[in-house]
Amino acid sequence: MSKWSSRIPGFYRLPVAKRRELLREHAGHDLIDDAALAALEGGGIDVETADGMIENVVGTYSLPLGIALNFLVNGRDYLVPMVIEEPSVVAAASNAARMVRQGGGFFAEADSPIMVGQVQLLSVADPDGAASRILCAKEELLALAGAATARLCERGGGPKDIVTRVVSNPGDPDGGMLVVHLEIDCRDAMGANLVNTVAEAVADRLADLAGPGTSVGLRILSNLADRRLVRVRARVPKAALVGTSGEDGARVRDGVVAASRFAELDPYRAATHNKGIMNGIDAVLLATGNDWRSVEAGAHAHAARSGRYAPIATWRAEEDDLVGVLEMPLAVGTVGGAQRVHSGARLSLALLGADSAQELACVVGAAGLSSNLAALRALATEGIQRGHMSLHARSVARAVGARGELLDRVAAEIAALGDVKPERAREILERVRNLGPACQPVFLEVSK
Ligand code: MEV
Repeated sequence: MSKWSSRIPGFYRLPVAKRRELLREHAGHDLIDDAALAALEGGGIDVETADGMIENVVGTYSLPLGIALNFLVNGRDYLVPMVIEEPSVVAAASNAARMVRQGGGFFAEADSPIMVGQVQLLSVADPDGAASRILCAKEELLALAGAATARLCERGGGPKDIVTRVVSNPGDPDGGMLVVHLEIDCRDAMGANLVNTVAEAVADRLADLAGPGTSVGLRILSNLADRRLVRVRARVPKAALVGTSGEDGARVRDGVVAASRFAELDPYRAATHNKGIMNGIDAVLLATGNDWRSVEAGAHAHAARSGRYAPIATWRAEEDDLVGVLEMPLAVGTVGGAQRVHSGARLSLALLGADSAQELACVVGAAGLSSNLAALRALATEGIQRGHMSLHARSVARAVGARGELLDRVAAEIAALGDVKPERAREILERVRNLGPACQPVFLEVSK
């Protein structure tokens, strides 16, 4: 178990400066220094750096960076950085992580970081014969691929296997298409560049082996990273499902199971169910400078692998508890890419403290399962709008100048009135200010 905890009660009520102070204490290491935190003021990159990252730059564009709390994954506490524009995702993930914590936390495992590079061979006269010649030359091909990734091989990664797939026959309009998969262990990198380099390095030799007339088509990684899956499991005791409004735990559990079944039976619902999972996943990917589009592509391809689009996380009742499992491809890295130049991404990684890409994948998967639980729990009980409204009420109260206890009070009142508008918030703020210190604060339970 960790020596420190990711539980920081009342964190959401504190001013930003105080939250930053607490982060430094709770991170449990000295990587979060003043300079690292100051880098966040500009959103993590300056215009000059941005100009070196993409083309035709005219500026930078910031999003909020929040910290999801309460995460216990494989017995270790994590502060989980999330970058997202949507209110309530951070609070909801934190709340659900607190419930899962009561059942011992998330248990997660990530496969070895193996990515697949595809080489498309066209006009192959005899695809089956070509495939067996290629497989016979596996050692030579792996050596050729290894030479293109010498430094990766030194770190224990590199090409591990070659697989052939006949995807069309000589009679087909494509004229015999053979696809060769190069399986490459990318260690702590996401691996797109490494894999593409290897695919380009071996393609001509593959075409030679495939026989006369063969031409090389595409040479590119596959985002269906199904050799790099993460599996996360969470057990929530019935009692932990009882909310502030005192709902019956067993009814909440059964409601979540029924919501899961809905997604399992109906692709229309599965798409929304998975979107809720990706709320948590993408937010951590963005915060840590990872390629969220590639993970999105992989997640949805995995969701459709049976030929029918399905949920990537499901829930069942086990004895008295609610048990959820998530499985999806998660190609993430802790080195390279945007992390090299983006100080916000570096800070997020330091804060998270994952020692490897596999460990990061476990935490990202837990963030996804947590977001899913929060959404299903809300949908199966009071509906999604009440929580959204409470959070929206806080931002409206803040916008009219309410702070500290006044913020809690004004937000609670406009939410209770169902009139979440600046005019009403201003009116209430005036009134409670005039009432003076005798006015008792009413606290909104957003994220504890
Ligand atoms: C909204 O961003 C996500 C949800 O629609 C997910 C779900 O319905 O499960 C609430």
